[in-house]
Amino acid sequence: MKNICLHSDIKVPEINSYRLPSHVGIIMDGNGRWAKNKGFIRTEGHKAGEGVLIDFIAGAIELGIKAISFYAFSTENWSRPKTEVNFLMRFSRKIIHQRRDILNSWGVKIVWSGRKQKLWKSVYNEIQEAMEMTKNNQTILVNFCINYGGQLEIVDAVNNLINNGKKTITVKDISKNLYNPQIRPVDLIIRTSGEKRFSNFLLWDSAYAEFDYINKLWPDCTRQDLFSSIVSYSQRSRRFGREK
Ligand code: IPE
Ligand code: IPE
Ligand code: MG
Repeated sequence: MKNICLHSDIKVPEINSYRLPSHVGIIMDGNGRWAKNKGFIRTEGHKAGEGVLIDFIAGAIELGIKAISFYAFSTENWSRPKTEVNFLMRFSRKIIHQRRDILNSWGVKIVWSGRKQKLWKSVYNEIQEAMEMTKNNQTILVNFCINYGGQLEIVDAVNNLINNGKKTITVKDISKNLYNPQIRPVDLIIRTSGEKRFSNFLLWDSAYAEFDYINKLWPDCTRQDLFSSIVSYSQRSRRFGREK
């Protein structure tokens, strides 16, 4: 297990806090290609990505970002070969278990977005324990999206509302019934591996998100890539439909 320090020798860019995104979404992509390029089986790529995840969390803390979501397993990823699915379930469980102490010591509040149905019970239990352990932390909120799908999140919200007797539904109603309504809408989505698509990630909350892609496979990334992306975001002009 690679040990990552909260502070590295990579220089942290100085960005005015009002120019920082309040919530960043990361689509960690390219593990399979990374492994294939090296002549390994795909799961080696997932293993190599663990350190990058921890490094990105450390980098986000250094920057002063208050919330970050990581897309770890989509509702569509169940259609991968059983061996890979089993590996990813076991691996998610192991990462949460082994990293929760260090994340706790950094002041990370762990939360989860996803559907309970179909998710391995042992993964669900591990997440619940980590959430309980870190619930009072305030440095940064880290949202692990496991068995997450943006369309199903909206469907689940609507069904909640219907079950509670709602007849007409507003935008606010749906926002309040998402998996983690306390998290602000996502300001920036970053996808690695050069792909430029959302793949069903945070659909509702990214209505006005900026998008950036990193032309590197996830296991090759470091917090420096996060820093570059946040610097470029801080220079953008966001309009929200206004003239300027
Ligand atoms: C991202 O890497 C990790 C998950 C989706 C779980 P991939 O496994 O999608 O890697 P590529 O895109 O096939 O290279
Ligand atoms: C998106 O990556 C899901 C995660 C990163 C967990 P995929 O690799 O599954 O997405 P597609 O299939 O290329 O769109
Ligand atoms: Mg992929």
